Parts: sequence; C-alpha cells; structure tokens
Amino acid sequence: MAGYHDFKEKFYGRRKGPTLSQRQRRLLRDILPSVSFQAESIPRGALSPETLFDFQVKDVWLEIGFGKGEHLSFQAGQNSDIGFIGCEPFINGVAGLVTKIHESGCKNIRIYPDDARHVLSALKPASIGRLFLLHPDPWPKARHAKRRFVSENNLDVLSRIMKPGAELRIGTDHPTYMAWTMKEMQKRRDFIWTAECADDWRNPPPDWPETRYAAKAKASSTPCVYLTFLKTERDSHKP
Ligand SMILES: C[S@@+](CC[C@H](N)C(=O)[O-])C[C@H]1O[C@@H](n2cnc3c(N)ncnc32)[C@H](O)[C@@H]1O
Repeated sequence: MAGYHDFKEKFYGRRKGPTLSQRQRRLLRDILPSVSFQAESIPRGALSPETLFDFQVKDVWLEIGFGKGEHLSFQAGQNSDIGFIGCEPFINGVAGLVTKIHESGCKNIRIYPDDARHVLSALKPASIGRLFLLHPDPWPKARHAKRRFVSENNLDVLSRIMKPGAELRIGTDHPTYMAWTMKEMQKRRDFIWTAECADDWRNPPPDWPETRYAAKAKASSTPCVYLTFLKTERDSHKP
C-alpha cells in the first residue's frame, strides 16, 4: 500500500561495530529502555508521535539514521520544546546517543533502535514537522540502487507522515547520491526544493551542524550538498 512499508523489507546496513565498552553496555541496559519505544506492534498509521514524550511538545521532528547522534543531540539541545525521534539500527551509534542523553540530561529525544521504516509506517498522517536524512548510505553500485533510502516508495511514506509546509533536509557527500536524489525529487509534486541560488545548497544553514560523515568528507576535501525540500499540500507525486 502506498505510504506504508512492507515489514519484510530487509535492512542491508551494519547493526554492530567494535565491541562496546562496559560503560556503553551499562548505559544501554539502564538508560535505553526509558528513552526508546517499540514500533513493530503499533498498527499502521496509528502512532501520534507527541504521545511518546512526558511533556507537551510543540512539534515532533525525526532523524533517520542518526549515526552517533551528534546532529540529533544538537537539535534537541537547541529546541527544547520540540520532541525528537531518532531511528538507528547500528547499536554502537545508539550507544553514542544514549551517552549524550545521559550526559546532557535532555528529555526530548526518543530512540527507535532499529529500521526507521517501522516507525514511518506506524506514524499518523501529517504528524511530523521536520525530517532529517543526513548522509544516507550511498549504495553507489547500480545493482544496489534499490537499497538507497531515497526511493519512490520511501518518499511516498515521508509524504504521508509530513505536515504540509514541513522541511525535509537531505545531506550527502556522494556524487551518485546527489544526482540520484535530485532526479527522484524532481519527479515529485508533493515536495518543492527551496534553493534559489547555488550557495543555498553548497552551504549548510546555521542550524545544520556538521555530522560525523560531513566532517569526514570535509577532511578529504569532498564537497557536501545540503538540500531542503518543503512538503506541499499535494498528497502524491502523481499528476
Ligand atoms: C553513512 S551513515 C551517516 C550517519 C549520520 N547521519 C552522519 O551523517 O554522520 C548512515 C546511517 O544510516 C543508518 N541507516 C541506514 N538505513 C537505515 C534505516 N532504514 N533506518 C534507520 N537508519 C538507517 C545506518 O545504520 C548509518 O548509521
């Protein structure tokens, strides 16, 4: 069904990295249960995301693939009245974000430590006010193109859950992914690109901090692009 995922879709990325430290294991055991939630058992389209938080949030923003959580924890610190959902199946990344939550004491982050597509399917229509997809795995080989997160089906799902006027921010340092993203986005009528001049996509806006992958790209003089799209009132990319 358009706008939802088939839960049988496979996740191709890494779930585990180097052995976790004793402290990370302890934080995952003691802190993660209180800041995470289950999405698999929620019926499709039934999750009101503001109910995940212990206080009344002004809006809910979501990051897909937060890595070690640098960007998500920055945004949460800057916007204490917004609820943040972060999805990341890589447990070492989850441990990184849990450590940041523990150290900062922030109350406005909820983690889904698995494939974001489960959460996206569970979310109510027009329930997310901003969405971040930063340096998604590029899957540069043509035969792996179907694994790229930017795809017609995934964009249909994002379109369903985003509020009209909501921002979709996509960053990448991979030339194949840049071209792929622009080609996929240009097909759509439900998202419009906000850039008016080259500087708008060559430079990040001030509230778009450098992520780990952006820093890696910078260190090797690889340019990044910072793309912002607005969700329109239209429901579908189809004319
Ligand atoms: C290249 S890393 C970028 C991490 C971070 N966003 C950054 O810019 O530093 C891509 C991340 O997306 C995560 N990822 C890939 N597919 C995902 C999915 N379906 N749901 C949630 N996270 C996903 C991976 O586990 C990985 O941590």
